Amino acid sequence: MYDKNMLLDTALVARANAYAPYSKFKVGAAILLDNGKYILGCNVENASYGLSNCAERTALFKMISDGYTKNNVVAMAIVGDTLDVISPCGACRQVMLELLKPDCPILLCNLKRDMKEYKVIDLLPYAFSEKDL
Ligand code: THU
Repeated sequence: MYDKNMLLDTALVARANAYAPYSKFKVGAAILLDNGKYILGCNVENASYGLSNCAERTALFKMISDGYTKNNVVAMAIVGDTLDVISPCGACRQVMLELLKPDCPILLCNLKRDMKEYKVIDLLPYAFSEKDL
């Protein structure tokens, strides 16, 4: 188990760094590792809109770049200013499936501190993966 409130608080810290001058929609993500450390990520937009990167992928790519793997991950939280909990985009779901274990808990949250926990595999059923290659 893990402390959901602490993971959400860390995602909120990440969200404060969001670079979202175009959409104004700030998103934060936090990955809890088995050594107790957190990897933080925020969305980073670009004037060439398609080059923008979501908070989830920022955090996941930082994790890999820092030398960690799916085996080190306890859980990931994502938070945005949504009515219901935030719903990760399709691209991020695909990257989660690649870089996290299928049963890794993903805590979807909003600013009201609503939380819903899903497994990675349940966020992208019938996905294309390494098994198809
Ligand atoms: N965004 C994320 O960072 N994560 C999500 O789960 C949904 C969308 C970003 C992308 C873009 O910078 C902004 O939110 C609006 O789509």
